[in-house]
Amino acid sequence: MQISSLIRSRRSIRRFKHNTISSKDLSSIIEAARWAPSGLNNQPWRFIIIKDRDSSKKISEFTKYASIVREAAINIVVCLKISCSYDREKDLMAVGACIQNMLLQAHRLGIGSCWIGEILRRKKELSRSLDINKDLEIMAVVSFGYPKVKAKKAVRLNSKRLVVAIK
Ligand SMILES: Cc1cc2nc3c(=O)[nH]c(=O)nc-3n(C[C@H](O)[C@H](O)[C@H](O)COP(=O)(O)O)c2cc1C
Repeated sequence: MQISSLIRSRRSIRRFKHNTISSKDLSSIIEAARWAPSGLNNQPWRFIIIKDRDSSKKISEFTKYASIVREAAINIVVCLKISCSYDREKDLMAVGACIQNMLLQAHRLGIGSCWIGEILRRKKELSRSLDINKDLEIMAVVSFGYPKVKAKKAVRLNSKRLVVAIK
């Protein structure tokens, strides 16, 4: 698929089939994340991969979007490595870029995904529950799985509203 179609057709998927995701596909999703840009190329992202269903159930308890996390074949807890961080604002943007790469690569493979930001409300508790090193700050959980239902149509603001000035 052309990159433009890939970007346009990706949708957040919130219901997943029971199928598992192969190690090869998982590696290619991590590989896409690895090649995201970052300030000073500091690559401040780190990942905790949750494949075990019981562990997914455990982390699902920290978000109101529990059913998405519970149904997902894989959840990736995306973290910022604090000791790698040189400029928090830029590092957060880099982590965002790395997540977008993952979503797009998953979509290319026919794997659906949903970025769960709401879980950050309870990120400290989640971190304790997963026994995550204090040097890693949770930035998101991303749920992956094969789509069970067709995604809803998406809407976006018209580009005329987005480009606020041309000088
Ligand atoms: C930073 C961020 C946080 C998000 N958090 C959630 C979330 O907690 N739960 C959820 O269902 N979707 C979440 N989403 C997905 C958005 O709702 C979704 O991207 C948006 O509605 C546009 O739909 P689309 O992804 O299908 O194009 C999040 C997306 C982003 C970028």
